[in-house]
Amino acid sequence: MKDAKPFPVLKNDNLLRAARGEVVDRVPVWVMRQAGRYLPEFQELRKQHDFFTVCRTPELACEVTMQPLRRFDLDASIIFSDILVIPQALGLTVEMHAGVGPVLPQPIKVPDDLKRLTPDGALSRLSYVGDAITMMRHKLDGRVPLIGFSGAPWTLMGYMIEGGGSKTMSKTKAWLKDYPEDSKLFLNLLTDAIVDYLEMQVKAGAQMLQVFESSAEHLSKEDFLEWSVPYLRRIRDELVDRLNKKVIPVVPITLFAKGAGHSLKEQSELGYDVIGLDWTVDPIEARNLVGPNITLQGNLDPQDMYRNPDELRNLTTEMVHKFGKSRYIANLGHGITPQTPLASMEVLVEAVHKAL
Ligand code: CP3
Repeated sequence: MKDAKPFPVLKNDNLLRAARGEVVDRVPVWVMRQAGRYLPEFQELRKQHDFFTVCRTPELACEVTMQPLRRFDLDASIIFSDILVIPQALGLTVEMHAGVGPVLPQPIKVPDDLKRLTPDGALSRLSYVGDAITMMRHKLDGRVPLIGFSGAPWTLMGYMIEGGGSKTMSKTKAWLKDYPEDSKLFLNLLTDAIVDYLEMQVKAGAQMLQVFESSAEHLSKEDFLEWSVPYLRRIRDELVDRLNKKVIPVVPITLFAKGAGHSLKEQSELGYDVIGLDWTVDPIEARNLVGPNITLQGNLDPQDMYRNPDELRNLTTEMVHKFGKSRYIANLGHGITPQTPLASMEVLVEAVHKAL
């Protein structure tokens, strides 16, 4: 590691305590995509720098990671990056088009295209994320924990085959039926890269990890159990195994499988410490399904951030009351959307902290 100085002592560890099922001073709250387009200072910085330049330049990535913390009393930071840095490190071009989102101009169309992927050396091409994490730990000065993250195999495979976001994932789903063995090969290749990547983030200083299976919503329950769950299990098991072997302390890991509320019990059996919920799931039903030994995260509808302050405050308070103070991390049920009023973030954070 370049920066060998010890990290500053953590002052607000409510996030980590909630993840481990310990008593908290207050319900911790952070927001998926909290560093992002709803912040004018992010928009300003983006005028000067391309999206992936920000990701690849630790000073810029740290600046953007810090932006929401300057404005709001959040209990966590999440390193600024994107799930699509893995496809990039595997040799695919990824562009971020304004108003469109990610575009991969040379997608993986047929199994033969898998030969274009370059898993050897992928981890070294992601070292800038580790550098940003280490730098950020120092810049945070122990204020809140730093979360690292990765996309999950099914979600990444989807972007790599579709060539970007997709409303139907039709090409990727066709792969599962037409090329089941190659699909497994592809998902296993991604799983290996993800385990390496998450291990590197922990070594660099990530204090918690989140695995984003954002495209789970496209899979039936049966397909989720076949094409997502085995790889999610392998990520967690291999990561914990490797860290244990190297005597590196294991950090709490969150699984966020958007749209997989049909399989909460199955998710709770994968060894993750925290399960993220989207807003379609009822907190009380979720708790009954996962049992008492898992922390839940979520799950306010991001659209509720457009309600007036009183309504938003009431909705937030009601949500926190349903989850309770133990084993709970407040968040939205998916990423914050670009037009969200800044004032809503303040209302949300304050309402969570005051609810219990
Ligand atoms: O603050 C944070 O949460 C950390 C940063 C972060 C980004 N992307 C920055 C970003 C994180 C955790 C992600 C994860 C990510 N990226 C996911 C999983 C989470 C989810 O929302 O489901 C996915 C599916 C992606 C892929 C991706 N990147 C999409 C679909 C888009 C475009 C649409 C959108 O929601 O922004 C991006 C671009 C992106 N990633 C932006 C940011 C701030 C905006 C791009 C810009 O500045 O032009």
